[in-house]
Formats: sequence, C-alpha cells, structure tokens
Amino acid sequence: MILFDRIDLLQAHLQQAQTQQSIGFVPTMGALHEGHLALVKQSMKQNTITVCSIFVNQLQFNQAEDFTKYPRTLDQDITLLEKIGCHCLFIPTHSTVFPENYPLKTFDLGNVEHILEGFYRQGHFQGVCQVVKRLLDIVRPTNLYLGMKDFQQCIVIDKMMQLEGFNQFIKVHFCDTVRNEDGLALSSRNKRLSPQAISKALGLINNLKHAKSTILNNPTLVKLDSLQQASINSLINNGFESVDYFTFMNEQFEPIHSITDSFKQIIILAAATIEGVRLIDNIIIKSNEFK
Ligand code: PAF
Repeated sequence: MILFDRIDLLQAHLQQAQTQQSIGFVPTMGALHEGHLALVKQSMKQNTITVCSIFVNQLQFNQAEDFTKYPRTLDQDITLLEKIGCHCLFIPTHSTVFPENYPLKTFDLGNVEHILEGFYRQGHFQGVCQVVKRLLDIVRPTNLYLGMKDFQQCIVIDKMMQLEGFNQFIKVHFCDTVRNEDGLALSSRNKRLSPQAISKALGLINNLKHAKSTILNNPTLVKLDSLQQASINSLINNGFESVDYFTFMNEQFEPIHSITDSFKQIIILAAATIEGVRLIDNIIIKSNEFK
C-alpha cells in the first residue's frame, strides 16, 4: 500500500493509473473495523485501484469533546488495510484538506439536513459535505463506497453529489451495514463501550428488528406512534440512558405515521446513548417483504 499525505503526489499517482482504469474511493475517519474493510474489499473487487482516506474531519463534529475523544488508531488501521491489499491510503492533515482561505460552501441540502441526525448534531451534515466534496475533488474516483449504517449520511452525500454535478461521473454505492455475530452494528464508537454496554447496546438492533416484524405481521393495523413509544421505553428499560429518536421514514426520507400501499421502502432509524456513547442504527423494509 502506498501512503500519501500530499495531494499533488496522490494525484500524480492516480493520473498515471486513470487512463482505462477505475478508481474506487472509501473515505473514512479511521479507527477502522470490519465495516470499513468490507467497503474497501467491495471497492477492490470492482476497481483497478482503491484509495482509502483517513481524516478525522473537525468540521462535522458539533461537540469539541466528541472530536477529541474520537478514537485514533492509525498504525493499526494501516496494518489492517495492508493485510487486505488496499492500494493507496490518503492521510492528509487538516491544513492540507482545508488550507487557509479554502472557500467553504453552504450546500442547499433541504430538509434532510435538519431532521434526525441533523437536528441533534447541528451543522454536522454541512461539515460532512464540505469534506466529502473536497476529497472527491482531490481523488476524482469512478466509484464511491459508503456504509448504510449512516443511512441519512448516504442520502445527504448523494444530494450534495447531485448539487455539485459529481453524479455525472462518480457512481455511489451504499453498502450493507456490517454487524458483529450478535447483530450489533460495527462502529468506531463501540470501542468506547464496556463489555456490559456492548451487550446492552444490542437492544438497538433488537428493537429495530422487533418493530420491523410488528409492521410486517400486521401492516394495516399497526399503530406506528405506539410502536415508537414502546420501542423507546424498551431501550430505556434495557440500559440506554436516552433515546434521541426511533422513527419511521418513507423512501423520500419523510416521516410516516401509518403504513400505506404506495411506499417502496420504509426505513426505521434509531439513535440512543449508552455509557455516554451515542449509537445509531437502522433497518429497511422493502415493499416485497410484505405478504
Ligand atoms: O462516515 C464517516 O466516517 C465520515 O462521515 C466521512 C464520510 C468519512 C466524512 O468525514
């Protein structure tokens, strides 16, 4: 694996490769786990060159403490990426990505910016878009790989790519959430949880699964508001300190309060805090899953 901390050297390397080859790109903030590695592996299958980036983007943290506490495990990350044969790793400093006078933009993301994660983490999605736009401008990949655990982030980045015209030459792939053997979604934040909290954290996916099966068992009669309240109560009773949301959205990412025949998919999303660590997860119901 070749490591780059300079844009010019990375671009020179990619330019040589660019003719007739495809470049897959996996942006990360490090503290890599099997979820990230699955994205890199998918990229390696579908492209001649795979670039992974590790950059803990200060602009997307709305709390300074969360930024300082974010796990940084660069040596381990490099070993993991080398083991699976990733071709290039881009590890820029803050001033490389955002030099002084870098023209930060305001992206017109619409309502999706302000709801759920956007509501609880003001400015988060603008920060995500700033860095992803910058990284796409630098890497100019053929394919971009994102994990669906951050479902709302996938939608926001897709929107930014349309606004900026990236979608004309970059294909974005939303990849399935990778889970541990019990079902807990892998997250760099899990590293901050005690073993007891790790097992209690399973309540998140278990409640999502339960909500999904409750809907599928009786779509016409299910009361989503009661299901929401019961799921929140269950999370609190099973060790979560607080629940920011447990909510049902349609394919346009609008909240729904009842099930109609006309939807293509329903996404149930949840965010809850345990041992001071905020976790998110989601589950999808496709229309063909209804009997
Ligand atoms: O999902 C993440 O790790 C980050 O939000 C991303 C996409 C790498 C941007 O910093």
